[in-house]
Amino acid sequence: MPVIAVVGAQWGDEGKGKIVDLLAARAQVVARSQGGANAGHTIKRGGSRIILHLLPSGALSPDAQCLIGPGVVLDAGALLQELKELADLGISLKGRLTIDLRTHLVFPTHKLLEAQQETQLGNQKIGTTCRGIGPAYSDKAARRGVRLGDLLDKSRRLATCTALFDYHAALLEKIYHQPPLDRAPLLAEAEFWAEELASYAGDSVRKLREAVDRDQVVLLEGAQGTFLDLDLGTYPFVTSSHPTSGGPVVGIGLPPGKIDFVLGVLKAYCTRVGSGPFPTEMDDETAKLLRDRGAEYGATTGRPRRIGWLDLVAAKEAAQWNGVNGWALTKLDVLEKLPTLKVCSSYRIGDTILSGVPLTIQGWADAVPLYEELPGWEDGHEARDIDDLPDNARNYLAKIESYTGVPVHLISLGAGQEETILPRGELVQP
Ligand code: GDP
Ligand code: IMO
Ligand code: MG
Repeated sequence: MPVIAVVGAQWGDEGKGKIVDLLAARAQVVARSQGGANAGHTIKRGGSRIILHLLPSGALSPDAQCLIGPGVVLDAGALLQELKELADLGISLKGRLTIDLRTHLVFPTHKLLEAQQETQLGNQKIGTTCRGIGPAYSDKAARRGVRLGDLLDKSRRLATCTALFDYHAALLEKIYHQPPLDRAPLLAEAEFWAEELASYAGDSVRKLREAVDRDQVVLLEGAQGTFLDLDLGTYPFVTSSHPTSGGPVVGIGLPPGKIDFVLGVLKAYCTRVGSGPFPTEMDDETAKLLRDRGAEYGATTGRPRRIGWLDLVAAKEAAQWNGVNGWALTKLDVLEKLPTLKVCSSYRIGDTILSGVPLTIQGWADAVPLYEELPGWEDGHEARDIDDLPDNARNYLAKIESYTGVPVHLISLGAGQEETILPRGELVQP
């Protein structure tokens, strides 16, 4: 199965970074096709923890080509910082990173605008990562965005950037009553980015197609998660891109039929950062326990993540929307030592029982989760074979499989690569 799409099946932070890093050792290409530096993908190698925001999680595998597709919004400053951090660790992306010339850029003014927008929303704020994602995608959709190709073309750089900064200045000054915007440092920074990024710029779509044509192993690394999808998620409490399995189709030009396997990354419980409905959210001692045990603090913003029981209704919907062929079930270790576990198997709104997710934001807010209780288990994180897992942990897996109709292909019991079980054998053949 050479082309694998790795998709977050919940509200992000499912552990995609670990899974992609693990599989990347056998991949020739790892591609990001949506989102931006709002993503925080953590990779644990030995004693060190590396958090990637824009670089694909193949960056640590020296033979993997890394692609950033046109569907990503690129904070060039953040990317250069990331490249520097890796260089300090002796990891170079020279000759193996391609950023598409069509990729739109995120400028500091996008972040300034977002801060103002969030402030104005008051207690209705989205709770974004403040990485300029919404404003950058808005400019792209409104066709006034600046792409990497514009930045590298000296005859277009000044005009496209100035037009965008003029527009941002008008919003900041007239709507948000901010001081006049100084364009000079912004233009200087844009020129610096152009110099630094020129050697990485290219055609990611062609590179991906060539790899697919050669039957190479390709990983499509989703950012965010299914319920943060702009169309299918809990709008307006969503991100501005498509984290679902269609993301690479539009975001890096992959023909739909070319995805061989959709690997849904599902955390054994749920988390969410930022505002918005979260039916199975817990607000008690168990949440605190899981947050501490699972180190559930945002990899990008450091915010404590909200914690909830596993939502099977949402997981099944995610499986169907994404066409998930197999689950990578993460953080099963975190659930150890709980006497009983709850899983949500339907929602109730008033007198109506729902077996799918609500379609309106009010419905999401009103949905009351109905739970089934399952017995917990004491200790299983050292298991390296499915048969070594305690019976109740295996029952938990069986419940997920039977409810969602999707088999578990990978079980993660810790942040490290070795803390993994592959109950159905290797996903990518050596
Ligand atoms: P991503 O955004 O989906 O890549 O996930 P994040 O990196 O934001 O958050 C996942 C966190 O859980 C990171 O700190 C990982 O190192 C960690 N992690 C991943 N898998 C496991 C696991 O199976 N068990 C535990 N305890 N931690 C894990
Ligand atoms: P990874 O790839 C979890 C959330 C934000 C906010 C909403 C909109 O690490 O799983 P945005 O900055 O995108 O406009 O914020 O989406 N969010 C994430 N939550 N993981 C992420 O990425 C996220 N990226 C955005 O917290 O609720
Ligand atoms: Mg994350």
